[in-house]
Amino acid sequence: MNRIIMGGQWGDEGKGKIVDLLSKESNVVARYQGGANAGHTVYKDGNKIVLHQIPSGILQSDCFCVLGNGMVIDPVELSKEIQDLEKMGMPTDNIYISPSAHIVTPIHKGIDLKNESALSNKIGTTGKGIGPTYVDKYNRNGIRAIDIANSNLILKLYEKKYHASSLDESFSPNSEQAKLFFSCCDLISKYVRNVFPILHNSNNKILVEGAQGALLDIDHGTYPYVTSSNPTIGGISSGLGIPSSNFESIMGIFKAYVTRVGNGPFPTELHDEIGSKIQDIGKEFGATTGRPRRCGWFDAVAASYSIKLNGINEIVLTKLDILNSFDSIKVCTKYQNGDLVSDDYSEFMHNLDTVKPIYESLPGWQCDINDITSFDDLPENAKSYIHYLESILKTKIKIISIGPRRNQIIQL
Ligand code: IMP
Repeated sequence: MNRIIMGGQWGDEGKGKIVDLLSKESNVVARYQGGANAGHTVYKDGNKIVLHQIPSGILQSDCFCVLGNGMVIDPVELSKEIQDLEKMGMPTDNIYISPSAHIVTPIHKGIDLKNESALSNKIGTTGKGIGPTYVDKYNRNGIRAIDIANSNLILKLYEKKYHASSLDESFSPNSEQAKLFFSCCDLISKYVRNVFPILHNSNNKILVEGAQGALLDIDHGTYPYVTSSNPTIGGISSGLGIPSSNFESIMGIFKAYVTRVGNGPFPTELHDEIGSKIQDIGKEFGATTGRPRRCGWFDAVAASYSIKLNGINEIVLTKLDILNSFDSIKVCTKYQNGDLVSDDYSEFMHNLDTVKPIYESLPGWQCDINDITSFDDLPENAKSYIHYLESILKTKIKIISIGPRRNQIIQL
C-alpha cells in the first residue's frame, strides 16, 4: 500500500516518529517539499536523532530515501546530517536526491535573514533560506541539484547570485562559508540521481513524508505567515511527480492539542498558565530553531478544514500523554466573529486574528497513560476524548502516540 503522512496543523505534530514506525511497511520514503526548516525527531537504540532533510525512513537500512524535486536542499546542512548518521554507523548510500530539486546557498540564507530583519510584522522564518530559494525557482534563475556536480558551473552560478545580491563580502565566492558550501556540494553530488524509476516501480511500497503542516501551506495556510511550499496534498504531485490517485492511505498527523512556532494567527492559543503548562510538559521547543512553541487547545474547526483540503482518511493523534494531568480538556468546535458562528474554517480564514474560539469541555483522565499498549486499557475519559474527536472530525483515529519512544504507540 502507498501512504501519505502529512501534518494537519502548523507543523511539529510528531511526523518523524510515525514515519519511522510505518516505514517498516514501505521500501521507499520520499519528501516532496520544504528543506532544512523541518525537524523530525526519531529515536534509535535510545539515541535521539533529529532529521532535517533526510526522510525519517533512513533508520530502515533497506529503504530508498528520496529527496524530491519539490524540496530545497541545503548541501551544508545535508552533509552534516549524513556525517552524523555515518558516525552512528548507519548506511547512507540509500539517499537519492532528485536532479530537479533546488539548492539553498549561503546567499539565500543571508537574504532570508535580511528580509526578516527588515519586516515590521515578522513572519518568524527559520532563517534556513527557504523562501528566497523558492523565489529563485519561480523566477527561473535557481540552482538545481543537477548543477552541483560540475564545480565550474556551480562557482559561476554562485558568483552571479552574489553579484546580484546586496550582501556583504562575508558571502563572496571566496568567503569561508562559500568554500564550505562548494565542498559540501561536492560531497553530496554522488546522491543526485534519477528518482523517477523508484517512484514509479509498481513493486515499491511508497511512504510520502510531509514536512511542516497544512496550515503553513503557501496557498491554503495563514498567508503571509506560512512557509513557501505546499505541504498539502497538491505538493505531492508537483514535488515528486506521483499522482495522488496512487495513494490509498492519506494519514493526517494531529497533536492532541495545537502548537505553532513563528508568528501568525492562532485562534485557540492559550496565554495563561495552562498554555505554559502544556509547553512545559510537552517540551514544546522547536527541533530546528529551539524557539518556544505557542500552545493551545485542540482546534477541531481548523482540523476539519485540513481533513477536507487533503482528503485525509486516517488520523494519527500524537502526544496524548501530555494531557495526563489536566482535570478538564477543551476542544474548539466553532469560531465566532461578530454575529457569525460556524464550524466552517473557510468562512473565517481571512480574519483569523479576530475570531473567538467556542469550546466544549471534556473531563481529563488525570493518570499516567504512557505505558498502556491497547486502546481498551486506556482510562474511560481518554477513550471518550478519542471518540469525541473521531465523531467531530468524522474520521477514524488509527494510531495514538503516548510518548517519545518507538513503542509508545496504541494502534486501533
Ligand atoms: P520558513 O519555512 O523558514 O520560511 O518559515 C515560515 C514559517 O513556517 C515560520 O512561521 C516558521 O516557524 C514555520 N515553519 C517552517 N518550518 C517549520 C516546521 O518544520 N515546523 C513548524 N513550523 C515551521
